[in-house]
Amino acid sequence: MKGLILSGGKGTRLRPLTYTGAKQLVPVANKPILWYSVASLVAAGITDIGIVVSPETGGEIEAKTGKGDRFGARLTYILQPSPSGLAHAVKTARSFLQDEAFAMYLGDNLIQDGLGDFIQTFQTKALDALILLKSVPNPSAFGVAEVDNQGRVLHLVEKPVLPPSNLALVGVYLFSPQIHTAINHIHPSARGELEITDAIQQLIDTDQTVEAQILNGWWLDTGKKDDLLEANRLILDEYLGASAISGTVDDQSQISGRVTLGSGSTLVNCTIRGPVIIGHHCRLENCFVGAYSSIGDDVTLTDIEIDHSVVLQGARIEGIRQRIVDSLIGQRARLTTAPLRPRALRFLIGDDSQIELT
Ligand code: DAU
Repeated sequence: MKGLILSGGKGTRLRPLTYTGAKQLVPVANKPILWYSVASLVAAGITDIGIVVSPETGGEIEAKTGKGDRFGARLTYILQPSPSGLAHAVKTARSFLQDEAFAMYLGDNLIQDGLGDFIQTFQTKALDALILLKSVPNPSAFGVAEVDNQGRVLHLVEKPVLPPSNLALVGVYLFSPQIHTAINHIHPSARGELEITDAIQQLIDTDQTVEAQILNGWWLDTGKKDDLLEANRLILDEYLGASAISGTVDDQSQISGRVTLGSGSTLVNCTIRGPVIIGHHCRLENCFVGAYSSIGDDVTLTDIEIDHSVVLQGARIEGIRQRIVDSLIGQRARLTTAPLRPRALRFLIGDDSQIELT
């Protein structure tokens, strides 16, 4: 079985965090979201993996992710010239996939459950498609399934105004090569894309075997700020191992809970309350860092308190007197204040940014 991860698309920017980069590279617990899908496929025994990329961000994704050695996988990058839909991405990957069954993972999705059981069901029942569903409060934002009381999929519809159920299609799918025939029979949707949802509907309409399983564990589509903070929290909770301190910690600093401190990083008079991950070559002085925070590489924090937040590479935060909470701070961002009582606020804020003085 092969793996296919979709990391192209037009929604390549998680505004305003990454105007300049792929949203699939935004870090969760200091690792790009995309890497979790690669690791999940490898954990299920799938090591021959294609990654669909766009012309704008493909180079960056390939440079950062590499050929797959770090995952024990072989990664093949497949260029999709335009963001013409998930089924179009599969079509673009046709020569990589050949006539093998494959597991498809959307590169901005994260699921808690391993893929092993789903793959076993798919193979034992010789299905043409196995889809995963999750009950959500806002089904109109997703593909939505209508199922009968025996769990058979009756009907699928993409982002319906009037959803037939609250069961959203999760961005992880298992397909037999029949999906290619189905894709050849569908047409672009109203939003101009070849929808994978329509291709699965085509399988249903032609009496191929399509089954759905309800996902028990958590599922995150990391396209929004709160989802990203939530993903960071869940990943730190589940995957951050015992404390690993590679940097330098002075006698005044206190570390409790699970904390990872990267090499070349220094803590001076800091309190760190895990789970927290701090990258390489950071300098933290007179700081409190509270649980569920991820601090990227080359970050400088001085005289601040920060909690339940993600700070990306190269950011510098100094002397902010109020505690910073539930925040995402972008790469190389600067937050500083006058040494005494500041009398004015001076901003250079990118498009779509949000500042809340609470
Ligand atoms: O997150 C789950 C949802 O993902 C499903 O419920 C929907 O049925 C499915 O259509 C999809 O909806 P989105 O609108 O969220 O898909 P998005 O455009 O964000 O693309 C998902 C991933 O696929 C993302 O990593 C970009 C990539 N992609 C997208 C398109 C349109 C490609 O690689 N090529 C493309 O042409």
